[in-house]
Amino acid sequence: MKLKDFKLEVYFGKYEFTAPYLLTQSDCESMKLAQLLNYESEEKSKELFDLWLGYTEVQGDPELRKIISSLYDTIPENNIVVHSGAQEPIFNFMNVLLEKGDHIISQFPIYQSLYEVANSLGCEISYWNVKKNDKGWYFDINDLKKLIKPNTKLIVLNSPNNPTGYAFKKEEYEEIIEISRKNNTYIFCDEVYKGLELDGITRPWLADLYEKGISLGVMSKSYGLAGLRIGWLATQDNNLIEKLIKMKHYTTICNSATSEFLAKIALKHSDEILNRNKEIILENLSIAEDFFNKYNSLFEFYRQMAGPIAFVKINIDEKIEDFCEKLVQNKGVLLLPANIYDYPGNYFRIGFGRKNFRESLFKFEEFLIENNYV
Ligand SMILES: Cc1ncc(COP(=O)(O)O)c(C=O)c1O
Repeated sequence: MKLKDFKLEVYFGKYEFTAPYLLTQSDCESMKLAQLLNYESEEKSKELFDLWLGYTEVQGDPELRKIISSLYDTIPENNIVVHSGAQEPIFNFMNVLLEKGDHIISQFPIYQSLYEVANSLGCEISYWNVKKNDKGWYFDINDLKKLIKPNTKLIVLNSPNNPTGYAFKKEEYEEIIEISRKNNTYIFCDEVYKGLELDGITRPWLADLYEKGISLGVMSKSYGLAGLRIGWLATQDNNLIEKLIKMKHYTTICNSATSEFLAKIALKHSDEILNRNKEIILENLSIAEDFFNKYNSLFEFYRQMAGPIAFVKINIDEKIEDFCEKLVQNKGVLLLPANIYDYPGNYFRIGFGRKNFRESLFKFEEFLIENNYV
């Protein structure tokens, strides 16, 4: 199996730890260990020092799985497999389910591994392309219908979507499930930005709605705890769970005991942490909306439905990758150009989850003024 370079991760590898103004990040503001422990009593913090640092259970700590299962309506703890972050479960799931010659459909644009692993396995991929109207980005279910083939084994969704922030509503999931059921197709839904709905409509987990649905969750994004490297897959399909556990024997075997301990604390305080992060996003969005209104001939911005990121058009006469390169070199402001997603046109991804958003945006504005873009 030969994997192509992961364009987004290669780009971040170049700048993420050197550029001071990260204006494109998709993870929410993180916190110190002490801040996380503060959600619990002092007794709990002391337990950390008593933690046994041997191997942990392959499927994930049963207590952690129980807490994760409480996020769902229908998924018991035995139908969850805890993994390292979200990248490992994407890789493992695709390897478990897919074979050369299978046909898959993937939303597009999307986080690269969601189709690239299938590509490296020799699958045929059709892309369900995003569209735009006067309300912003959307995915047309009639387009999806046209892509279905008799050998379509899997539909890959990412909702809320990276990079557009589009989030399917329950009724849309139901339509997609109806199409899938007729064709006996699995649905993998990357839901790493779930819990940050900005339009007031709480989305269900796909695994709760469909017997052949797989939900991907993680601590990295909506919770801002990427350093824990804890994610999970949830599905009603027992057969898949068994295969995923066996696949994990070949990747990480088990999870970090410390991370599982800390993930339990975070998930017990799920609502508090998600509300904290939603507040940061909403405050930054109001700053951003003033900015985009001020320069409304340069930008085309639509507020995302959910999550910390949006995909913005900029009206310039140069390639978006050249613009972003100049910006990061001159001002240390990092934006993610659309070519990273193989998406045409002058778009960039902006992230609203960080506390220094105002400062980063100010630096961006300075760049625009100094270089006569406005
Ligand atoms: C949609 C999506 N899925 C998965 C991942 C990988 O997440 P993790 O860093 O937790 O492995 C990302 C990271 O950007 C993402 O945007």
